[in-house]
Amino acid sequence: MSKSLVEGTIISNEPISSDCYSMFISAADIANAAVPGQFINVYINDGSKLLPRPISICEIVDDKVRIVFRAVGGGTKELATYKAGEVIRVMGPLGNGYPLEQDKSYMLIGGGIGIPPLLELSKRLKGDINIVLGYRDEIFLADEFNKYGKVYIASEDGNTGVKGNVIDAINEYGISADIIYSCGPTPMLRGLKAYGAEHNIKTYLSLEERMACGIGACLGCVTKSTDVDSHSHVNNKRVCKDGPVFEASEVDL
Ligand SMILES: Cc1cc2nc3c(=O)[nH]c(=O)nc-3n(C[C@H](O)[C@H](O)[C@H](O)COP(=O)(O)OP(=O)(O)OC[C@H]3O[C@@H](n4cnc5c(N)ncnc54)[C@H](O)[C@@H]3O)c2cc1C
Ligand code: FES
Repeated sequence: MSKSLVEGTIISNEPISSDCYSMFISAADIANAAVPGQFINVYINDGSKLLPRPISICEIVDDKVRIVFRAVGGGTKELATYKAGEVIRVMGPLGNGYPLEQDKSYMLIGGGIGIPPLLELSKRLKGDINIVLGYRDEIFLADEFNKYGKVYIASEDGNTGVKGNVIDAINEYGISADIIYSCGPTPMLRGLKAYGAEHNIKTYLSLEERMACGIGACLGCVTKSTDVDSHSHVNNKRVCKDGPVFEASEVDL
């Protein structure tokens, strides 16, 4: 799968919660090559921030790539200020993406800012789709999933859906499936790895390790794997290149 470094024009950049933004970028080369679960490296125009920011592809619409990001630090806060018509450098698609196993029953499980990549995935799968979304408090993006599957919500503050985490929602609603596709914080993924093993459900996890190069060159993003890497002979995998999606048994979280 080939990646491109392109100058993308921002088509829109709108807030969708108090700190999350939805941005459409015109980038045909990336949109045409991308699959769900891949990400792009976004270069911030401020020259003092040299390292690109990895952001998941939320949706692909014609020649546009959509990202949904939370403004947490210097880079993403600056990204939040960009306006339609401005140009940004983006590289992608990067990483492997989710293996699409069709005509099965699924649980798509997202936590917080791990939710966006599940939107394009929910559009591409054919089968019985259950979408379990976990939030701390504020809800975003949930209504956009309704047309692709049955949506279940968990929130830590209990204001929407089940009070608790995604596993509490799975148990409360008695959801089951052949395959779990997930993305979110490490404690959630660790819980889903154990849940998948216990219930004999094939489980894919998308990891959000801190990254530097994003293309497999710096080893800044390694995670512990269960098997030994053939090059380095250590139990490591590069999240940016070998992942970010792994079958749960491949990684030691
Ligand atoms: C594969 C992947 C997909 C991601 N998808 C999304 C998404 O769809 N939406 C979203 O809001 N966030 C996503 N993130 C997290 C996002 O990359 C960070 O929030 C962002 O890089 C923070 O940059 P900053 O300059 O605002 O923060 P700072 O903390 O100032 O960043 C400093 C440096 O650390 C790196 N960094 C900081 N936090 C992270 C992190 N969690 N992951 C990787 N690198 C980090 C930055 O890239 C930068 O080089 C994803 C991360 C990965 C690895
Ligand atoms: S971020 Fe450089 S190898 Fe993954």
